[in-house]
Amino acid sequence: MKKLFTIVLLIFIAIEASAQQDQNMGIIPAPVSVKKSNGNFKLDKTVVLVSNEPKNSRMADLFNAFVVTKTGFALRPAKAAKANEKAIILTSVGADKLPVEGYKIKITNKNITIVGTEAGLFYGLKSIMQLMPEKANDQILITTCEINDYPRFKYRGMHLDVSRHMFPVSLIKKYIDLMSDYKMNNFHWHLTDDQGWRIEIKKYPKLTEVGSKRNGTIIGHYPGVGTDNKEYKGYYTQNEVKDVIAYAAARYINVVPEIELPGHASAAIAAYPELSCFPERDTFVDVNAPWSGSRKGKQVQQQSGVFDDVFVPSDNTFKFLENVLDEVIGLFPSTYIHIGGDECPKEYWKENAFCQKMIKDLNLKDEHGLQSYFIQRIEKHVNAKGRQIIGWDEILEGGLAPNATVMSWRGAEGGIIAAQQGHDVIMTPNAGGLYFDHKQSTSADEPTNIGGLSNYSTIYNYEPMPKELTVAQQKYVIGVQANLWTEYVETPAKVEYMIIPRIFSLSEIAWSQPERKDLKNFSEERLALHLARLDKTGTNYWVPTPLGLNEKVINGETINVNLKAPMPGSSIYYTLDLTRPSTAATLYTNGLKVIVPKGEKRILKTIVITPSGKQSVVTETILNNGAADVKVK
Ligand code: ACM
Repeated sequence: MKKLFTIVLLIFIAIEASAQQDQNMGIIPAPVSVKKSNGNFKLDKTVVLVSNEPKNSRMADLFNAFVVTKTGFALRPAKAAKANEKAIILTSVGADKLPVEGYKIKITNKNITIVGTEAGLFYGLKSIMQLMPEKANDQILITTCEINDYPRFKYRGMHLDVSRHMFPVSLIKKYIDLMSDYKMNNFHWHLTDDQGWRIEIKKYPKLTEVGSKRNGTIIGHYPGVGTDNKEYKGYYTQNEVKDVIAYAAARYINVVPEIELPGHASAAIAAYPELSCFPERDTFVDVNAPWSGSRKGKQVQQQSGVFDDVFVPSDNTFKFLENVLDEVIGLFPSTYIHIGGDECPKEYWKENAFCQKMIKDLNLKDEHGLQSYFIQRIEKHVNAKGRQIIGWDEILEGGLAPNATVMSWRGAEGGIIAAQQGHDVIMTPNAGGLYFDHKQSTSADEPTNIGGLSNYSTIYNYEPMPKELTVAQQKYVIGVQANLWTEYVETPAKVEYMIIPRIFSLSEIAWSQPERKDLKNFSEERLALHLARLDKTGTNYWVPTPLGLNEKVINGETINVNLKAPMPGSSIYYTLDLTRPSTAATLYTNGLKVIVPKGEKRILKTIVITPSGKQSVVTETILNNGAADVKVK
């Protein structure tokens, strides 16, 4: 047992040592520059932690807590190091010359100095934590280097839909932790939608008494093979919201609340039917749709999709929305308030006499003009409170509200148009791989998902800055974001599976300079290292499939196959007899020679098993020696 432990430890030391060889020293996202030199800083019990600015004391505590978990000992805090003492120094001296959120690290044989203020210093510490190898013989050897770093984009976002499924505050905090580890700085909290209203609003208690509950959820992929017939309910109290905001702020993350309007309003309308164009009309449910409970009256949706029953643009509705937004603004310090604006069908507005009269009276062109009026009226209210709205790119229809920021999700086009009009833009196109509800491989093993393929390479290769923009227009592209819609994400473990490792790629396109892009270094050195560390923590993630697959017919009847394990310490098992591989299958070691007679094929099935026992999806590769039919079933 002891021997096995030593071997495992040696493997980890070897992994971590190789991180020190990596040009980016194992840091995700890749810094602006890393210059390594020939030396080592020995982190041991004699090192002192110098932080003589009161505002850095929290950072010093944070760092020391990390050192304790990494080494088992704490560093002695000091106001200054003595001449013969090795020190880790946190300081803001010189930080005024750094770009916003920037930091510098200098590691010599004697000292580690981290320069930055507030978020910059925090990010510097995150980088130090990532580059630090494992302890060996009661010390950690850190390669000497100089790192200069600052972000490419000022808005680096992750979205989470808590309407379709909601998650405990503990998961929200874990999500925020993960974001902060990767230098993301905006958590977009999608709090309301057709399938549930998830934030307590004191003035309108029915929003949560009624709007946070649905009678069932479809089973399987839309439109579902049935319903689970279980009440699904939940919301965040205002105290929980404040707790999350404070937790995020301590990690330099702003929380952007989203209150959807004028569409995706079924839950609010179920609570207050007078917000509908047709309060007496039953919520539309297809007769064939799986459904639990009553189909009468206004219902919180159990199906996913887009629904015609949207907010009526009456004075009563505006008063309601303004009151809701006032409470939201009171809770969230965010300058940005997201007001949705996407997928608002115009059918009910077309049918409704009040809406038609309004279009005429206000001299609007059509229902799109009414949507634009709706958003602009809300914007005025939000601006009067000193805040700014963000909306999905449909807010361009019928004319953009004067100060709005646009989230471009239906491709890049909305973002391009908005930037050309001088509006700030956040790129989050579903086609760019930034929809984390898409599947991560084509394997049939992927859990139920919305469809579409977005793996970490797709995201890594996405360039957020549209070529169509002039240099002057480019400055309006303020950032990039990934969205996790949760129609098919029921549990915290699945949230983790859907965002890791894709968040690593996102952080690199959001933070790192484009010329630092290097998919091979990213996937083989850094992503592999970070997953190997996560594997020890009980966090769920998508296990990568084998890397570097190459196959070659080396003589008439032999195909040579080479594979590479995607993570340090992971193993590949395979079959060639069409059975599903498991740990009972053959362990891949060092190249395979597979006999495949001419005109035939074999199917190589692989699975990756991580040190903690997590399994990848099964991949299938055809080893073809001139067979006519090469389809994999
Ligand atoms: C969206 O995906 N409907 C913004």
